[in-house]
Amino acid sequence: MGNSPRAAIAGLGSAVPEKVLSNADLEQMLDTNDEWITQRTGIKERRIVSDGQSTVTLAVEAATEALNQAGMSADELDLIICATITPEMPLPTTACVIQSELGVKGIPAFDVAAACSGYIYALTVGSQFINTGTYKRVLVIGVDILSSITDYEDRGSCILFGDGAGAAVLTASDDDEKGVIHTVLHAEGSGWDYIHIPAGGTRVRGTAETIANRDHFIKMRGRDVYKFAVEKMQWLLGDCLEKCNLSPDDVDMVIPHQVNLRVISSAAKKFNFPMDKVFVNIDKYGNTSAGSVPLAMSEAWRQGCIGPGSTIILVAFGAGLTWAGAVIKL
Ligand code: UT7
Repeated sequence: MGNSPRAAIAGLGSAVPEKVLSNADLEQMLDTNDEWITQRTGIKERRIVSDGQSTVTLAVEAATEALNQAGMSADELDLIICATITPEMPLPTTACVIQSELGVKGIPAFDVAAACSGYIYALTVGSQFINTGTYKRVLVIGVDILSSITDYEDRGSCILFGDGAGAAVLTASDDDEKGVIHTVLHAEGSGWDYIHIPAGGTRVRGTAETIANRDHFIKMRGRDVYKFAVEKMQWLLGDCLEKCNLSPDDVDMVIPHQVNLRVISSAAKKFNFPMDKVFVNIDKYGNTSAGSVPLAMSEAWRQGCIGPGSTIILVAFGAGLTWAGAVIKL
């Protein structure tokens, strides 16, 4: 029996709204300033959707670019997976609406929710359908419209978040030198309250009172999340290097969840990854949750920072708590 097929990246795409929310704009909205935000997070601006834009419009734009790069049409796909925690609507899944907008019929489509780790969770699921031989062409999208759940009266969290999407087309490959070669997923549910939205689910249903209390927005224990993120980013890099028998020299680019520049730099320093081997676009987009890693991966490709033959490590962590990593040979 031959080796099972690998999931190779055949195309990448991304999408962000045109509207910019800068640190200067936030200064007008609440008690904060550009210097504080830049020093503590590395963020200068984020993109925010306008009327008529939504989870699906960004997802479809990113998916279309990924399909074009792969030289494929949507009707050649076998499966669509969408990672998001800001769905188009509570029911049905966003992936089904994306399938309809792409003009495809019949193929399975479902969402994966693991917050900022969502894209790597979805990539892992998609790769495994390919490894088992079940499907050959899988579209994996990561998208979040965090502006829809951000409390712009909470300066401890709103400065971080933005909207964005990224997508990859995975195809079955028999080439041992190409594809997703390692994935690792974890969760620690006892930390569910580190980042959560109290109301709107079945525990606390939405009422006029929950709206007045701003309980439909993200509540975040910033300091605790920061410590968790530093620890897990270091752990994930170590795991990816060790499991794939790689040294930092063998890695062309680390593409981390764009969580906070200080978190990213501290983990890179521990492994002596020079920062020019760590892709950063947090200054332009902030934290876009499930959109963050695929948006960064697509930009890194477009800017020529990665390309055919590159070995890349993806790492992410977020609400849940969840953390996840992947090693890919492009
Ligand atoms: O995908 C996961 C999503 N979550 C995250 O990425 C969060 C990770 N955590 C962080 O990035 C950081 O914890 C923050 C950037 C959110 C906060 O930075 P920090 O260095 O942990 O600041 P802090 O919360 O300890 O606050 C320090 C001070 C406080 O003032 P006092 O008590 O020292 O007088 C805050 O009130 O900074 C104040 N502060 C601000 N000042 C200006 C908090 N937010 C702001 C702000 N502008 N936006």
